[in-house]
Amino acid sequence: MASVAQSRWDKASSTYDLFSRGAERRWEVAKRKSLSHVRGRVLFLAVGTGLEVPFFPSGLDITGMDISWGMLSQAKSRAAGYQGGFRLAQSDVEHLAFGDETFDTVVTSCTFCSVPDPVAGLRELRRVLKPDGELRMFEHTGSRWFPFRLMLNAMTPITRRFGPEMNRDTVANVVQSGFKLRSVQNVYLDIVKIIVAGK
Ligand SMILES: C[S@@+](CC[C@H](N)C(=O)[O-])C[C@H]1O[C@@H](n2cnc3c(N)ncnc32)[C@H](O)[C@@H]1O
Repeated sequence: MASVAQSRWDKASSTYDLFSRGAERRWEVAKRKSLSHVRGRVLFLAVGTGLEVPFFPSGLDITGMDISWGMLSQAKSRAAGYQGGFRLAQSDVEHLAFGDETFDTVVTSCTFCSVPDPVAGLRELRRVLKPDGELRMFEHTGSRWFPFRLMLNAMTPITRRFGPEMNRDTVANVVQSGFKLRSVQNVYLDIVKIIVAGK
């Protein structure tokens, strides 16, 4: 039986590009800059409809995974257009079907707001990362700044109904899952962040 998250995202997949292209353009420069550091064998969570595929440098060996078959189906043509290796895989980040220490880099983008148990998901990402590998996340989080914290806390009970939570402390979750932080860069206020960590 498909999980609640899987069927939610399957339903959203056909209209996802319509609502997300604007955000993708807004963050393109910051995402491309972060992805320029990616190397080797890469696990990309979550590929969605593949809007970010063109942001990766060419020549990498990338596995783009997602819980939703609908998203993966939309991502096919973008993955096929990548100049390098780009395979697609269906998996739930909380139960990854990859062996220990498989990847040199794990990339996440705009996903940890909606993974039900983020620490369990991050522990799985840590398991499949090589000992000298790197986790590179582009995520929106809660805010320490009072008015924004209040607003994001108020929004979360509503947004949770269709997926994302707006007030997650993803930096704390990264640490709690056993990663060692290398850097945290605020891209927009203290809400949109690039988080880099190692084992
Ligand atoms: C907001 S979309 C982001 C997609 C893409 N990174 C982008 O920015 O366009 C969130 C994605 O996370 C996927 N997702 C949600 N929970 C997941 C899980 N537990 N495991 C794997 N993928 C998941 C969804 O199917 C969806 O494609």
